[in-house]
Amino acid sequence: MRLGILTGGGDCAGINAVIRAAVRRATDYGFEVVGIRRGWAGLLEPDTLPLSYDSVAGILSLGGTVLLTSRTNPFKREGGPELVMKNVQSLGLDALIAIGGEDTLGVAHKLRNYGLKAVGVPKTIDNNLSETDFTFGFDTAVNVAMNAIDEIRTTGTSHERVMIVEVMGRDAGWVAAYAGIAGGAHVILVPEQAVDIDKVCEVVLARGREGKNFTLIVVAEGAEVKSPEGQTLSLRRVDEFGHPELGGIAHLLAEEVEKRTHRETRLIVLGHTLRGATPTAFDRVLSTRLGIAAVDMVKQGKFDVTVALRGTQIVTADLESAIKPKELDLNLLKIGQIFT
Ligand code: F6P
Repeated sequence: MRLGILTGGGDCAGINAVIRAAVRRATDYGFEVVGIRRGWAGLLEPDTLPLSYDSVAGILSLGGTVLLTSRTNPFKREGGPELVMKNVQSLGLDALIAIGGEDTLGVAHKLRNYGLKAVGVPKTIDNNLSETDFTFGFDTAVNVAMNAIDEIRTTGTSHERVMIVEVMGRDAGWVAAYAGIAGGAHVILVPEQAVDIDKVCEVVLARGREGKNFTLIVVAEGAEVKSPEGQTLSLRRVDEFGHPELGGIAHLLAEEVEKRTHRETRLIVLGHTLRGATPTAFDRVLSTRLGIAAVDMVKQGKFDVTVALRGTQIVTADLESAIKPKELDLNLLKIGQIFT
């Protein structure tokens, strides 16, 4: 068995732990393992490296991905899927483990019609993939945000300011909701609910009336905030999967809040710090379990599936359902509202 492994889409903490576990399990089974660099790009123009028991030593705690990543979509290239399969054959790959989010796993699923035998490992800090209770990388991202919030709270309290913390989350507010609750935010804003700027300002003013001049707002980058003219903050570049490049909503929000409440307002955009951190223990254990389970699926000849966490157990599910978005549990926001 010659097994390929690739990582695609945005990186997150724990990818290297998956690679390490998968390579070690595969080696135990006597498989030969080939790392494919830069996601699907490494199968459009073959770019590989051998992976061995020893070559993955020391990467468990490392953020990022030693295989590099890209947001390349073979289905956006003329003859892309056919070229990928031609290269899969010329590289002698019998199966592939794809570590990625909805886009990377979506490509793996579509390529089954071209003969690809793939097992998916769900990865994203956004935690918005169906079939798995948590994606690895999410816990690390939340912890990074929580630690930043703790630090921001002291300076915000001292200066009696409104502090706005922007976290990643294009379409999903999971990171904002968890980080907001863990950090004791007074307002949590997510893409799943239109932002009512009047309500946000009312929280700030109501706290002020109670003599509490510090307000902490956590906002997901994808939250929809409108300008005074009613225009949504303009979207910038779009990637090959059609996703906008976001980041910076906190600036517009801060301007509006300060203008309407006359409270001094500061902001921080945590952005990629959420993705690049050292994985937490939770993510290391989850990644390790998923990496092992993915190779076990290959060994059993089960393809077009994903491995996933359900409760405390690692399970498998169809790739097709795993790439569907997992809705944010809006009850989390209700918890947040108790602490305004
Ligand atoms: O991978 C998902 C994500 O972390 C989103 O939350 C965010 O909008 C996006 O990646 C940013 O991606 P990039 O690094 O390509 O700008």
